[in-house]
Amino acid sequence: MALLFKSTYDDSPSWRDYLREHIPELEVRTWQDVGQTSEIEFALAWKPEPGYLRQFPNLRVIFSLGAGVDHIFADPWLPADVPIVRIVDEDLSAQLSEYAIHLILHFHRKMSYYFSCQTHRQWGEPGRTVTSQATVAILGLGHVGSDLARKLRDLGFRVNGWSRTPKALRDIECYHGEGGLEPALHGANFLVCALPLTRATKEIINANTLASLSPGAYLINIGRGDHIIDRDLVTALAQGRLAGAMLEVFRQEPLPPDHEFWGDPRIRITPHIAGDPNAKTAARQLAENILRTRRGESLKNVVDSIVGY
Ligand code: GLV
Repeated sequence: MALLFKSTYDDSPSWRDYLREHIPELEVRTWQDVGQTSEIEFALAWKPEPGYLRQFPNLRVIFSLGAGVDHIFADPWLPADVPIVRIVDEDLSAQLSEYAIHLILHFHRKMSYYFSCQTHRQWGEPGRTVTSQATVAILGLGHVGSDLARKLRDLGFRVNGWSRTPKALRDIECYHGEGGLEPALHGANFLVCALPLTRATKEIINANTLASLSPGAYLINIGRGDHIIDRDLVTALAQGRLAGAMLEVFRQEPLPPDHEFWGDPRIRITPHIAGDPNAKTAARQLAENILRTRRGESLKNVVDSIVGY
């Protein structure tokens, strides 16, 4: 029984160690040394090249090395009838929430202004910020979005959440479906995109949606680059409709050196580091699904290929 680790960098030793704590006989191979392709029953993959996973005739499960699965569905030649499973992990959600909360507090408390005052040896002006009057709109109320929503609510922010299907979270204004999008965004001071990338959510952040926010709002994207129409974002920033954007994901990664985002002082960039799957905590659920496959039981966190997440 072998699992193939296929990613853009080789983090297989830690996955091997943690997986073996649960299944000592599991062999973990990497894409650099696949061996007999017929022996591979499980793949743990991040951005596999199109057609890559098709070469394993006995593949039983494809595990996404992340919460998102768009990088797997981007392959038009995926092997038929092999379930795709994603990571749903407290630690991953906590990392992404931490990233967004840190930025919201940074913008909310005008930290860039005070840091720039220090650069000029200036004693900055006091600026009152009232947390209970600041609204954060969160697109996506899955594991990540709902974790973030609860934590921001507990910090005292007003939180609007939007999802495809109806959700209910205590003290959070939950909206859903096409008709719920504008009310969820209306007048928000911060917009966080925590959506999966699907046909329905692609380019959801565009001139129209940005126009619903409060003037001078901030955007934080922890979803995918394709959620945004780049040109509309740059225009909204140039017009002052948005005060700033914190981008973690891009249509093309790494972001090409000549991309206009690099030079825009209102845009801050991180290189897709907000959430790093934790082998220690995630190996447990991978192992559980491997054991379930062996016993012929149904898998957990299987992705719906029609809906796309
Ligand atoms: C990261 O982008 C993930 O999908 O977990």
